[in-house]
Order: sequence, then structure tokens, then C-alpha cells
Amino acid sequence: MKTQYYTATSLDGFIATEDDSLDWLFPLGDVNDTSYPAFIAEVGALAMGSSTYEWMLRHADKVAAETGSPWPYKQPVWIFSSRELPVIKGADTRFVRGDVRPVHAEMREAAGAKNIWIVGGGDLAGQFFDAGLLDELIVQVGSVTLGKGKPLFPRRVTHPPFRLVSVRQVGTGFAELRYEVR
Ligand SMILES: NC(=O)c1ccc[n+]([C@@H]2O[C@H](COP(=O)([O-])OP(=O)(O)OC[C@H]3O[C@@H](n4cnc5c(N)ncnc54)[C@H](OP(=O)(O)O)[C@@H]3O)[C@@H](O)[C@H]2O)c1
Repeated sequence: MKTQYYTATSLDGFIATEDDSLDWLFPLGDVNDTSYPAFIAEVGALAMGSSTYEWMLRHADKVAAETGSPWPYKQPVWIFSSRELPVIKGADTRFVRGDVRPVHAEMREAAGAKNIWIVGGGDLAGQFFDAGLLDELIVQVGSVTLGKGKPLFPRRVTHPPFRLVSVRQVGTGFAELRYEVR
């Protein structure tokens, strides 16, 4: 069982524009050509921040057109927010705030032998890293730059560096980099 931050990023390290647009991402490739289908099959619990959840709320039609449902996850999802957020009918979601450690313990129990996916954003993944709970970063580096936006991982990690485990080309749109946290 691993806790994994799996995300796409621009070449210059942003996972969304400053106004939370992902329009740059979808033309870069077909999700079915990436590692995503194999990855998600091994996920037993997910965590995301409120901006990521609100993106899902705003784009429920697009998500439904692509996945057949406005909420694509069958696994339980923990959403971090200090606010009251709308609930998606039929979605297995729990709203939490504060320290990630007790939430991780709950997620671990729910996930069983499967992995925990930190969907994003970058600072939430950083909170799990700070608590020593992040095992891997799996990053689809898109062949675009955004100039500014929501950061991939707003932490300084130098000693020890992450350990690069694999590099995989996905068409001309992505390089998938897999790192182990030491
Ligand atoms: N490229 C990709 O593959 C990819 C992947 C994931 C996300 N995204 C996108 O990237 C953007 C990420 O946005 P973001 O960087 O703002 O991150 P985010 O993690 O989605 O949202 C950040 C917000 O979550 C809440 N939060 C975070 N940690 C918390 C804690 N411990 N306790 C309580 N609340 C907490 C806070 O807001 P409140 O307290 O005000 O609610 C915080 O401002 C979104 O647009 C998303 O759609 C892209």
C-alpha cells in the first residue's frame, strides 16, 4: 500500500492556470493511452483539496460525458476544506479539515491493500509529504508551459532528492516521471 501523488503538470510546474483552468491539458493526449487506467484500478481511497473538488463540480457535464457519471470515483474520497461545500448525489465523499495525519489513518483503513491517491493540489500533497506520509510522485509532464498557475509541489526538497524510478513517453504530449520519496 502506497500513498501516491498522481497528477499532470505543465513543463514549468503548474497543475492548473491561476484561474483553475485545465483546458491546456485535455488536447495533449487520450487518458486511455496513459498509465491512468492501471493506476486507478489499484487505488482504494482518494484525497483532494477544495479547488480540485470545485473544478469537478463546475465541470460535472464534461466529466459525465467522458466517464458516464458526474462523479467518476467508486472509491471513498476525502475532501479538505474549511468551508461547507455542495455534495454530489451518490458520491462517496467525506469533508475534512486540518491535520492530514488522522485523515490518512482513516483512508488507510478504507483502502485496505490498495493505494491512497492524493489527487491534488500541490500544497495538499505537500501536507502529506510534511507528515512523512507520501511515498511516490507520479507526474505526467505535459508538453506545454503556462507561465504561472497552481504549483505542482510548493515545497523545497533537495536533501535527499526524490529518487527517479521510471520515465515513460506517452505520445508527443506527455513524459511520465515516477519518483520515490526518500
Ligand atoms: N493537472 C492535474 O492533473 C490536476 C490534478 C489535481 C488538481 N488539478 C487542478 O489544480 C488546481 C488545484 O488547486 P489548488 O492548488 O488551489 O489546490 P486544492 O488542494 O485543490 O485546494 C486548496 C484548498 O483546499 C483547502 N484545503 C487544503 N488543505 C486543507 C486542510 N488541511 N484543511 C482544510 N482545508 C484545506 C483550502 O481551501 P478552503 O479551506 O477555502 O476550502 C485550500 O485553499 C485545481 O484547479 C484542480 O482542478 C489539476
